[in-house]
Amino acid sequence: MLNQPEVLQKAVEELDSVVGRERLVQESDSHRLNYIKACAGEALRLHPIAPFNLPHVSTADSTVAGYFIPKGSHVLLSRTGLGRNPKVWDDPLRFNPESHLMDGSAEVELAERDLRFISFSTGRRGCMGAPLGSAMTVMLLARLLQGFTWSVPEGESRIDLAESTHDLFLAKPFNGSNPSATKTPPNGKIQSSKGW
Ligand code: HEM
Repeated sequence: MLNQPEVLQKAVEELDSVVGRERLVQESDSHRLNYIKACAGEALRLHPIAPFNLPHVSTADSTVAGYFIPKGSHVLLSRTGLGRNPKVWDDPLRFNPESHLMDGSAEVELAERDLRFISFSTGRRGCMGAPLGSAMTVMLLARLLQGFTWSVPEGESRIDLAESTHDLFLAKPFNGSNPSATKTPPNGKIQSSKGW
């Protein structure tokens, strides 16, 4: 979001208009924070924490997209293969929250629709903590955006999102203290980024 200031600004504007600056964002605001949720969903799509879903073993013969998968197969789903699939996503490597706002009136969910990417997965072994995981993710992002003013570190023009060669973490992780990244919170309770 720092690399695309217009996305960051839109998220902050949503918070300002839905929550305002007089109080902290609450979980009950979540259903009106579609753009924030779309940003969180986009992060799950483009930057999953692990390249593969947990391994499963198929319990019956089945055919998926024309591929026969015999009973007893070990099945590994590629999260990046799905989430960054150019047949499914336009310009798949671009962080584009709009792609989750398919229907302007529908509430955005972090749990994947139509399995176009894997966030919580689905079925009997899908994540049972999806509602809690969604709520925590949205609240964390919303409060980080509401409580702080974010900018790229001095002397840098963008955040280098290149991935490490052996996992999906950043090749050059953040050196994350930036004392100027503090703003007065809505209720004045959070006085300094140092206390967080
Ligand atoms: C953003 C947060 C989270 C994400 C993205 C996430 C994602 C996932 C994924 C992808 C799986 C594997 C599903 C599969 O194998 O098909 C899983 C499994 C699971 N998750 Fe989560 N999860 C999150 C938070 C949570 C939370 C908060 C809890 C509990 C409070 C939780 C409990 C579980 C459990 C128990 C399983 C194993 C389910 C099974 O094997 O039957 N998760 N999660």
